Amino acid sequence: MEARYLVGFDLAQTDKQVADFLVIGSGVAGLFAAIKASQHGRVLLLTKELLEGNTRYAQGGIAAAIGPADSWQGHLADTLVAGAGLCDEAAVTILVQEGPTRIRELIALGARFDRQDDAIALTKEGGHSRRRILHAGGDATGLEIERVLAGAALANANIRVVDHIYAVDLLTDQGQCYGALAMNPAGALTAYLAKATILATGGAGQVYKHTTNSSVVTGDGLAMAYRAGAEVMDAEFFQFHPTALHVAGAPNALITEAVRGEGAQLLDINNRRFMLAVHPMAELAPRNVVARAMVQAMEATASDHVWLDMRPIQGLDLPTRFPTVFKTCQRYGIDIRHDLIPVAPVAHYFMGGIRINYQGRTNVRGLYACGEASCLAIHGANRLASNSLLDGLVFGHRIAECAQRYRLHISDEYLLQLKLSAPEPARLAKRTADIMELRQAIQQTMWREVGLTRNAAGLERALAELQAIGRQLAGPVEQPDQVETINLHTVSTLITRAALLRTESRGGHFREDFPEQNDQDWLKHIVLQGDSWALVEQKRG
Ligand code: SIN
Repeated sequence: MEARYLVGFDLAQTDKQVADFLVIGSGVAGLFAAIKASQHGRVLLLTKELLEGNTRYAQGGIAAAIGPADSWQGHLADTLVAGAGLCDEAAVTILVQEGPTRIRELIALGARFDRQDDAIALTKEGGHSRRRILHAGGDATGLEIERVLAGAALANANIRVVDHIYAVDLLTDQGQCYGALAMNPAGALTAYLAKATILATGGAGQVYKHTTNSSVVTGDGLAMAYRAGAEVMDAEFFQFHPTALHVAGAPNALITEAVRGEGAQLLDINNRRFMLAVHPMAELAPRNVVARAMVQAMEATASDHVWLDMRPIQGLDLPTRFPTVFKTCQRYGIDIRHDLIPVAPVAHYFMGGIRINYQGRTNVRGLYACGEASCLAIHGANRLASNSLLDGLVFGHRIAECAQRYRLHISDEYLLQLKLSAPEPARLAKRTADIMELRQAIQQTMWREVGLTRNAAGLERALAELQAIGRQLAGPVEQPDQVETINLHTVSTLITRAALLRTESRGGHFREDFPEQNDQDWLKHIVLQGDSWALVEQKRG
C-alpha cells in the first residue's frame, strides 16, 4: 500500500477555502450534482479543465425510455443483458425509472435534442432492442450537455468554479472526509474544506495506450479515494469501444455506435460481413461481443483493423446526421459517404470504480461519488451503450439530495481550525526517469497485458512491470503531471490485481486461460481496499 498522502502538508500553514459541498470534476455527473447541491448550500467545484473530459466527446447520445412504445422495463431488460449477470437490478431500476425525469430537467435547463416530425428523434445503438437514444447536434450530444450544464453552473451564484486546479488527495480524519488538497499548475497547494465531498472525476481511459478518452481522464478520483481507504469495486471490467478510427498517426477518434444503429456494417479486410455469424443482433450485439469478434476477424486476416462501411445507411444525409464523424474522417482523407473506414477497438469506459450505495455514499463518511468514477454495478460487466450520461444525471441528482441530508452539521470555523497534517512521504530521492516516459510505460504495459485479451502469465508480468515502474515513480511530488501519473499507476495496479483474481471471462473481462463465463463461482464482485480484497455476492433482483 502506498503512502496515505502524496505530499507533505500542514493545514495550519496551508491556504484554505470553505464550502458546504465540494464537487471534484466537471463532466455531466459533477456539473449536475453541483447544480442540484447549490439548492441547499454553497458549492465549490474544482476542475482540471472546464469543458474538457469525456462528457464533451460523447457522440451517440443518452438512453431513456421516452418513446411512445418504449418502457422502463424494456430499458432495464436490455441493460441487464449487456451487463452479463453482474448488474445490480435495483440500481438499474433507479436509473431507468428516474432517467426520463432528469432528461426533462436537462431540457428545461436549455438542452436542445435533435427532433424529427415534431418529436425528439431517437436512434439505436448496440444492445438496445429498440430506438431509445436521444442525440444533439447529430453526433455531438455530449458537447450540448456540457454547454448547458457548464453555462448553468457558471451563472449560479451559489457555485464557485475553480478551473485549472488538480485535486491531489482527500483530507480525512478517523474515517471522515473533510474536503481535498489541490495543486495549481505551479505546484502551490490549497485546502478546499467542505461538509460533503463529491467525487465526479470520471474514468481512467488514459491507463491504456489506445483510448477514446480525453487526456485529462487519469483516474484521479479513484486513486485518491483508494488512498483514503475507500472500497473499489469491479476494477477488472473495462469496456473497449469497437469502432475507433485506425489510421497511422491519427488519434483513436470515436466513431459512434449510432452509425451501426442506423445501418452501418463491419467487414473484415476481405469485405466479409463477419458479425452475421457471431450474434443474432449482428453489428448491434453488446460491445464486448462486437469488439472480441473484431479481434478474431483481425487475427484471421493478419490485419490491424476491420472496415466500417457506412454506405448501407439509407435515407440519411450523413454529413448532417454525423457531422463529427464526417469531419474527423475527412481530415484523414476518408469520405464516409463512399469510403470504407478503418477501425479497431480501443479502451473506452471503466465499469469499475469507487463503491457506492444507492445514494452515492462511499464507505468513507462525508465522501460521495457519481458518474464513471463510481461503481454501483449499474453497468455490470459491460455497460449498455449511452447509459453513462444518464447515470451521471440520475446519480448526480441523488447524491446531491443525500449529501444535503447527511452532510456534517458543523460550522465553517470548525473546518478552518481542523488540525490535519502529513509528513513528506519517505521517497525524497530525485526521480531520474522522465515522468511522461513512465506514463507511457504504464500505458504500454496495460495495453499489452491487461487489454481486451488477458491471461495469468501476462497479468503477472504486468504486475511485475508496474511494480518496477512504481519504484521509478518514487520522488517528490511537485507538479500535477506527477500526481496524474501516480494515479494512473495506482489505478492500473488495481485493474490488474482484480483481473488476475477473476478466473473466468465475462463482459469486458476476457481471460484466454478461462474463456468461459462461470456463473457457479463468479456471480460476485471483487472489492479491493488497501492491500486486501473481498468477494461480494451479486444481489438478486
Ligand atoms: C458512442 O457514441 O458510440 C458512444 C456512446 C457510449 O459510449 O455510450
